[in-house]
Amino acid sequence: MTRDVFPPPLLLLLFLSVFGTSHGCLQDPVSAYRFTGAVCRLTYPAAVVLNEKTTKVIEAAFQHAKYPSVKGEKSLLFIGRVTYGLENLEIHNLSIGRSAFELHAGEGIAMEISNVSAVFRGTIQYGYGSWLVNVAQSIDFEIESQIDLGINPKLYCGEGKVAADTSDCYLNFHKLHLHLQGDREPNWLKKLFTDFITFTVKLVIKGQICKEINKVANILADFIQDTAEDFLSDGDISMDIGVTAAPVITANYIESYHKGLTKYNNTSAVISDSGFHPSQLTENKMLYFWLSDQVLNPLLAAAHQDGRFQLNISGAEITELFKTSLSSATPESVRKCLLESGSPELKVWSSSVPFLNTSTLGTAVWVQASGQLTCGSQSTPTLFFQTDVAMTVTASYADKKVFLQGNVSEILILKAELSSQNQPLLDEVQLEFIREAVEKMGVPKVLSVLEVELTRLLDKQGTNLFDIYDPEVFPRDGFLVIQMDFGFPHHLLVEFLQRTLQ
Ligand SMILES: *[C@@H]1O[C@H](CO)[C@@H](O)[C@H](O)[C@H]1NC(C)=O
Ligand SMILES: *[C@@H]1O[C@H](CO)[C@@H](O)[C@H](O)[C@H]1NC(C)=O
Ligand SMILES: *[C@@H]1O[C@H](CO)[C@@H](O)[C@H](O)[C@H]1NC(C)=O
Ligand SMILES: *[C@@H]1O[C@H](CO)[C@@H](O)[C@H](O)[C@H]1NC(C)=O
Ligand SMILES: *[C@@H]1O[C@H](CO)[C@@H](O)[C@H](O)[C@H]1NC(C)=O
Ligand SMILES: *[C@@H]1O[C@H](CO)[C@@H](O)[C@H](O)[C@H]1NC(C)=O
Ligand SMILES: *[C@@H]1O[C@H](CO)[C@@H](O)[C@H](O)[C@H]1NC(C)=O
Repeated sequence: MTRDVFPPPLLLLLFLSVFGTSHGCLQDPVSAYRFTGAVCRLTYPAAVVLNEKTTKVIEAAFQHAKYPSVKGEKSLLFIGRVTYGLENLEIHNLSIGRSAFELHAGEGIAMEISNVSAVFRGTIQYGYGSWLVNVAQSIDFEIESQIDLGINPKLYCGEGKVAADTSDCYLNFHKLHLHLQGDREPNWLKKLFTDFITFTVKLVIKGQICKEINKVANILADFIQDTAEDFLSDGDISMDIGVTAAPVITANYIESYHKGLTKYNNTSAVISDSGFHPSQLTENKMLYFWLSDQVLNPLLAAAHQDGRFQLNISGAEITELFKTSLSSATPESVRKCLLESGSPELKVWSSSVPFLNTSTLGTAVWVQASGQLTCGSQSTPTLFFQTDVAMTVTASYADKKVFLQGNVSEILILKAELSSQNQPLLDEVQLEFIREAVEKMGVPKVLSVLEVELTRLLDKQGTNLFDIYDPEVFPRDGFLVIQMDFGFPHHLLVEFLQRTLQ
């Protein structure tokens, strides 16, 4: 049978509605790019993976549909008025034959869910009679059916998020066999019920299943959206990922455009001259994220203000740190503090808002860092320093861990004090020690803590639950491209459906 059925894979759409709420969408993508901090491109192979899961959602929609009781009546020659009702309709042994889809540039996603076979069971109540006889009966029935399902969701930009309206939904019955339990019934009655089923039950089933698909779709959309919003929030820092334009569909990908505005302490970042262009992403991976420096800088600033860039090192960790071999001599007071005080503690923190600028070489980061070393119960720190650090950082993700590589380009000591000296000015040898310690101990230590911290954040949001293959992070001029292949873990969907639909 050849019919044009063009409904999109549900999950695919919902995947796009991942992103939060707020207002307004621009009609013209090109002007919207200026306000777009983050872009998500999902290519055909990713859609294939998500489409496989659509089947599960459709199955759930069938299983959980609640069918209302239906009543009817008919006047028949010789018999008189027959009233009948349909109750306790249930669905059994559902199986889905095939679901396929295509992306149609500028239009939508085309999908066909065919050969859904299912058994409906229920009870028919009926009564008939004249002034002579009056019969009231009930009879169990079973309907064997084979259905093609079509959903034609419209993609739109509603309330600042990608929304799918799945109300254009239809069912096409190929087969519909009615079996009544026992054959006590007269033939005319069976004929009547068959007609009744054919004309009424089709409508009931269609209505309820389409309604249920819409409901499951919305539950799932909310679920994914909440998950994504949580994903991009931590503590008091959150992000507005409302859309800036309606998603674009080409023959090979679906692309959505998001604001990427960091929200912290009642203020929201502003992006007005971002530089996205579709040619900046390729099409051979399943999933792409495009992230502007204009998203990352406010995020860094919020993390700094929130006191996230602070590190206390003590105990075995500090002993280990100072085992790093340096070419310059350790100042006597520092050496004594580490060896003799018993409980040395090193505190390091960002003392200015960090700034980054990404280029093809990596992400250049500038930050003013301060540190102090205290020994035992002494109130004045043995060592205090303040430095400007400039370095280039590149990031990668492998074995479910974040890796950061830093290449220091400049360390400028702004201030340095040793408590053992009366004058704040240090000699060249001591300054060189601090410079070298910051470069060889400080930077690697801070990056390794950041690696652990970023991995923890991603894990907290469930990234480790996904099967991510060959993730790559490419620094470009003013933005990062993160690309990957993935598998959608079946158990995640099953858990969601179980939790939501029970
Ligand atoms: C449903 O499937 C089970 C096992 O596959 C089978 O025993 C049962 O008869 C089926 N029920 C109907 C109503 O077809
Ligand atoms: C539909 O499913 C039945 C069995 O469930 C199978 O025999 C038939 O070939 C399928 N038809 C299509 C078009 O997939
Ligand atoms: C939050 O903003 C207020 C002013 O709006 C400011 O006084 C306060 O210091 C800020 N808090 C933080 C943690 O940045
Ligand atoms: C943000 O503003 C609301 C009221 O506008 C206030 O209740 C709340 O304390 C503020 N939060 C911060 C972190 O300043
Ligand atoms: C570091 O120690 C200071 C007090 O010594 C404490 O206020 C601060 O919260 C600690 N920071 C971290 C990140 O543990
Ligand atoms: C980032 O660096 C490029 C050169 O690498 C420079 O042209 C650009 O102005 C810098 N951007 C910012 C915001 O500093
Ligand atoms: C570090 O940067 C310098 C130039 O600043 C470059 O020559 C060197 O190759 C870089 N090293 C690494 C490991 O990227």
